[in-house]
Amino acid sequence: MEYKIRFYPYKGEKIPPDFKYDQNSEDMINFLNKSAKKCVRELISKIFIIKSDESDFLGYIAISLRSIEKDKLSSEKQRALYARPAIVIGQLIIDKKYQGRGYGKAAVNFVIAIAKFLKVYLPCRLLVVDAINEKAKTFYEKLGFRAIPDNPLTLVLDLLPLFKTI
Ligand SMILES: CC(C)(COP(=O)(O)OP(=O)(O)OC[C@H]1O[C@@H](n2cnc3c(N)ncnc32)[C@H](O)[C@@H]1OP(=O)(O)O)[C@@H](O)C(=O)NCCC(=O)NCCS
Repeated sequence: MEYKIRFYPYKGEKIPPDFKYDQNSEDMINFLNKSAKKCVRELISKIFIIKSDESDFLGYIAISLRSIEKDKLSSEKQRALYARPAIVIGQLIIDKKYQGRGYGKAAVNFVIAIAKFLKVYLPCRLLVVDAINEKAKTFYEKLGFRAIPDNPLTLVLDLLPLFKTI
């Protein structure tokens, strides 16, 4: 059964008490509960709460703008490839009860749609994420992200082939 997914701009929500997560996701829980308001107010992050008919709080995604810092890239070739305007997925978590149903993938596609919309006004070449562990890395690799050679947990999706226009 497929449920329609919806994304709502964060308005100070907290993680619900019945939200299930692993201990290694605790930083993401703390981020929403403790730091999110300040990050949004200070225009550092934009956060969306993920909902569907199944749940009013499936999880959340936080995005921001940056590029991969040049001094983290070892060679000129790496810098040419990766030092580009980027949207970074800072946090993405789906309630364990609802994982494996396509919600994480839909959240990444939502960010791609934002980048596509944005490019009318402001170019954005890459989607970047710092995976928290190998499991998360595999998830992003399945969606087409590739690890940068200098840092195997930093993954990049080149948006150019997806947005071919002229
Ligand atoms: C990573 C996470 C967001 C994935 O969300 P999800 O809703 O379970 O993922 P989806 O159901 O959309 O999966 C999309 C694809 O990735 C695959 N996938 C998901 N998790 C995977 C994993 N751990 N290992 C391998 N493949 C995985 C799915 O099989 C699916 O493949 P398909 O399209 O071929 O069927 C979720 O597991 C989560 O919240 N984990 C804890 C927090 C976390 O690690 N966040 C990432 C921060 S960097």
